[in-house]
Amino acid sequence: MNVLVTGGAGYIGSHAVKVLIARGHRVVVLDNLSHGHREAVHSAAKFLLGSSGDSELLRDLLPRYAIEAVLHFAADIEVGESVSNPGKYYENNFSNALRLLTALTEAGIKKLVFSSTAAVYGNAEKNPIEETSPRLPINPYGRSKFMTEMAIEDFSRAHGLGFAILRYFNVAGASPDGEIGEAHEPESHLIPCLLEAARDPDGVARVYGADYPTPDGTCIRDYVHVMDLAEAHALALEKIVPAAGRYFNLGSEKGFSVLEVIHACEKTTGLNLKVLREERRPGDPPVLVASNRAAREFLGWVPKYPTLEEIISHAWRWHTEHPRGFK
Ligand SMILES: NC(=O)c1ccc[n+]([C@@H]2O[C@H](COP(=O)([O-])OP(=O)(O)OC[C@H]3O[C@@H](n4cnc5c(N)ncnc54)[C@H](O)[C@@H]3O)[C@@H](O)[C@H]2O)c1
Repeated sequence: MNVLVTGGAGYIGSHAVKVLIARGHRVVVLDNLSHGHREAVHSAAKFLLGSSGDSELLRDLLPRYAIEAVLHFAADIEVGESVSNPGKYYENNFSNALRLLTALTEAGIKKLVFSSTAAVYGNAEKNPIEETSPRLPINPYGRSKFMTEMAIEDFSRAHGLGFAILRYFNVAGASPDGEIGEAHEPESHLIPCLLEAARDPDGVARVYGADYPTPDGTCIRDYVHVMDLAEAHALALEKIVPAAGRYFNLGSEKGFSVLEVIHACEKTTGLNLKVLREERRPGDPPVLVASNRAAREFLGWVPKYPTLEEIISHAWRWHTEHPRGFK
């Protein structure tokens, strides 16, 4: 298939591009490099510098490259920043997605895979979280994704767009061959922050809140390997049919507390982490664990790297071999 990948120079998008190319798809990456890295894009993909919300550019490129399907990763991803600067999130994550949907519709494209998030569930009452759990996001980042989900549903009803909405839980790890990995600036995700702290003699592991209603008092999250996540995108893409939509949580169905992740990082790296206890961050739910039954049953998704040890050891290889990321 001829596939457009928006945000394909970013962390998850670049891993998805690698998987798509390995499966024989022809890939065009559209990224404005606001956070991505040109070097992360597979050499077999065509790279275009630009915004996924640039209607004129889209009108030109969709027919030019005979695009048949779109994987939409491009977004801003910092929850904290979305609280202090909501306009940026509604503009980039929602308004730009709306422009993309309009361009897809005009070009007659019927297949869309959308990067959504566990943040659409907010403080879910029941774990593991099913896809039918109510969408009650608690911050502008989550709301910008929820609004995009609703727009996709409306475009599907009105214009026959087929879609897969993939809601990721905590994505971590790196390509096992060491070629690409996570290089966010700023980095706010737990595992790369811990590995960074492990490498730095003055580094500290910050634990935000140790008084949650969990066995050791720290938040519990569900970690999924970035290559397994990328594989799920390819499976979802290949199953989409026009005018129908499906929702998939992508997680491991296992929860690990922040302290458990710290201990797993110490074990993998052989280094001791200095732990600094901080106040809770507003808007952090105590527990977020996915039910991934729908992905396993409908997509036939079988994670290749289901353990926390594999996730951390691939991330550690990336961090030690590329201490300055893609620079
Ligand atoms: N990382 C996670 O754990 C996680 C969890 C849930 C959902 N997600 C979603 O997955 C997607 C990818 O996340 P990531 O961690 O790879 O982030 P990332 O910042 O590494 O990648 C996003 C990419 O999109 C690009 N981009 C942003 N706005 C753009 C625009 N208007 N036009 C073109 N390119 C643009 C950036 O330059 C970057 O390369 C996002 O939609 C995010 O909301 C990520």
